[in-house]
Amino acid sequence: MKSIVVLLSGRGSNLQAILDARLPVRVAAVLSNDPRAEGLARARAAGIAVRAFDHREFAERAAFDRRLAEEIDRFEPDFIVLAGFMRVLGDAFVARYAGRIVNIHPSLLPAFPGLQTHRRALEAGVRIHGCTVHFVTPTLDLGPIIIQAAVPVLPEDDEARLAARVLEQEHRIYPQALAWLAAGSVVLDHDRVTFPHGRPAPALIVPPLDA
Ligand code: GRF
Repeated sequence: MKSIVVLLSGRGSNLQAILDARLPVRVAAVLSNDPRAEGLARARAAGIAVRAFDHREFAERAAFDRRLAEEIDRFEPDFIVLAGFMRVLGDAFVARYAGRIVNIHPSLLPAFPGLQTHRRALEAGVRIHGCTVHFVTPTLDLGPIIIQAAVPVLPEDDEARLAARVLEQEHRIYPQALAWLAAGSVVLDHDRVTFPHGRPAPALIVPPLDA
């Protein structure tokens, strides 16, 4: 069975969705840069090893990254799963785990990389918004895309309503992406995502406007 280490900084609802999906994947550990992250409590409740290192105690980013890598390597995971991990990982870290780090981002990349994606989507007046699971490469939020889900932006939306609609889809696509990775049915090949055992799954478009 493939194993993963999950990195998170906060709430951990994506971790919870991954656990609840009961994938054929071993969650070897959950690591955080914030000892108070709610996601750590979820991991503990599921009997998963947790480790937290406060990034503010490290003089520089590279030192934090090295400590993180040291800890990750103890668990020998096949994949590193970023689930609301709010630290930018340096190039050396990303290179060390090339092709083995995945992230979930709350927008339809390449639109709205970075923070406050829902507010920016509302400000831009887009009619469709969503979320993306992608491989992590040195460029922030712009790695090869594994799966996306799109949701409508409705006239009465505010940031919270839109975020909730997107989050519901995050909880569908992250377990799906990990199931594919674990089965070897999605791989990264020279910066392209390929589905060697069949056709790529269609993007999810939900919900229909007037179903
Ligand atoms: C999610 O919206 C995810 O896309 C983003 O950070 C948020 C984390 O939420 N990267 P949670 O901690 O999984 O609840």
